[in-house]
Amino acid sequence: MGKLQVIDHPLIQHKLTIIRDKNTGTKYFREVVNEIARLLAYEVSREMPVEDVEIETPLVKSVQKQLAGKKVVIVPILRAGLGMVDGMLDLIPAAKVGHVGMYRDQETMEPVEYFVKLPSGLEERQMLVVDPMLATGGSAVAAIDALKKRGANNIKFVCLVAAPEGVKVLEEAHPDVDIYTAALDERLNEKGYILPGLGDAGDRLYGTM
Ligand code: URA
Repeated sequence: MGKLQVIDHPLIQHKLTIIRDKNTGTKYFREVVNEIARLLAYEVSREMPVEDVEIETPLVKSVQKQLAGKKVVIVPILRAGLGMVDGMLDLIPAAKVGHVGMYRDQETMEPVEYFVKLPSGLEERQMLVVDPMLATGGSAVAAIDALKKRGANNIKFVCLVAAPEGVKVLEEAHPDVDIYTAALDERLNEKGYILPGLGDAGDRLYGTM
């Protein structure tokens, strides 16, 4: 079973409170989402493997460490996931960025892919799927399905706020995927919004309320 990690560092808690507040405007919301994404990237990268490398300091030869793991791909789920990309790239600047767009079919209520653009060689890469809200879990599951169908086998899911309902759905569909969230909230309301949550993350990021 994948691990659920709630990254409740004091800085993250403080910044989450800012973006939960309905009086926080678009510009500040966007900045703070990126700041939280940067802090989450730090935690997500904690288990990345390192290897020895010999270098010379100005004084002596020395064996030190360098990153040795798989090349990282950040995959925002459109549209709200885009709001986390720059913050994550600040810490993992060599990462590639893939994109996955899903919409919900109004008859079947199933998520449908409308845009998938990914680098080649997914088998060899560490995928970080990002979306601020893990609500019902439908789009997270579908996005990860889309990646696995194309060969990805090493996937982590990173969000800002998760609902217990979405965590359960994602864990059951993809037990190999670790979930990193800044907060685990109480529940979903009848419209699929997370409570207490922060509202519609995409609307708040892009000012489309
Ligand atoms: N998506 C959002 O943006 N917010 C929620 O609360 C749930 C899903």
